[in-house]
Amino acid sequence: MSTQSSSSLQIHARPTGFGARVSGLDLSQPMPADLRAELNAAFAKHAVLYFPDQPLTIEQLEAFTLQFGEFGVDPFIKPLENHPHVLELRREADEKAVNFGAAWHSDWSFQQEPPAATILISKVTPPVGGDTLFADCCQAFEDLSLTMQQWLSGLKAVHSAVRPYGRSGVFANETESRSMKIVTGVEAEKTFTHPVVRTHPVSGRQALYVSPTYTLGIEGLSEAESEHILAFLFARVTQEKYVYAHKWSQNMVTIWDNRTTLHNAGGGYDGHLRVMHRTTVAGERPVYVA
Ligand code: SIN
Repeated sequence: MSTQSSSSLQIHARPTGFGARVSGLDLSQPMPADLRAELNAAFAKHAVLYFPDQPLTIEQLEAFTLQFGEFGVDPFIKPLENHPHVLELRREADEKAVNFGAAWHSDWSFQQEPPAATILISKVTPPVGGDTLFADCCQAFEDLSLTMQQWLSGLKAVHSAVRPYGRSGVFANETESRSMKIVTGVEAEKTFTHPVVRTHPVSGRQALYVSPTYTLGIEGLSEAESEHILAFLFARVTQEKYVYAHKWSQNMVTIWDNRTTLHNAGGGYDGHLRVMHRTTVAGERPVYVA
């Protein structure tokens, strides 16, 4: 039986309100409905929640994930044996391949229904580097002029996994060995179209929903126009004022909202082992609601 209650929950928001540390919970225990509701409200508000000192087993990580929704589908990375929904993001101390996730993206935005959230727990943290950068795609949108907001809100963008996971993509051409098992192929070359601006189903806030990793272009624009507009949006959303460098400590659990954030795994820890376990929470088809 859970002894947790919403009265023990403490949310310590970062000064911008983007990202918050959460204390007063034991994530290995099930959460009663009122606590889950409060946590979900905090998640919709702050987009990145982190919980230090939560030494979850893999089974407990799975159970924690299922309190937010069904598992998402992770297509191109071999999961842990006997745990089909858990990925191990592992980089050995002597590994030379670029660290996994080292470019701005929103997880699996090339799917028809991309995961709403991703959950990561740090099992081994390097003594230097290894931050995860998060960009606030709501604020980056809201700070645009109304004219630009309105124009972007009518656009759709094409997403695909082809650049990293396609037959001629980054991973297929990699020469350095990697401990993570990545599957590349024709399946990654499918495309899906999503609105350039999506509305969050809980908060109602609107967010830019494009990334340099998975967005190939904007429908209805010429290639040059599309490249320019996307370059402008990528540069905007990754400006320092919208980015938060998340520092890990061992056994920290972090959940982020793929609907309103981009993330980028920082390197800088060559010579040190880094091990994370990761799950995703299924999401809905992205929509724009005025
Ligand atoms: C990712 O999920 O993209 C990787 C994040 C990280 O390892 O910091």
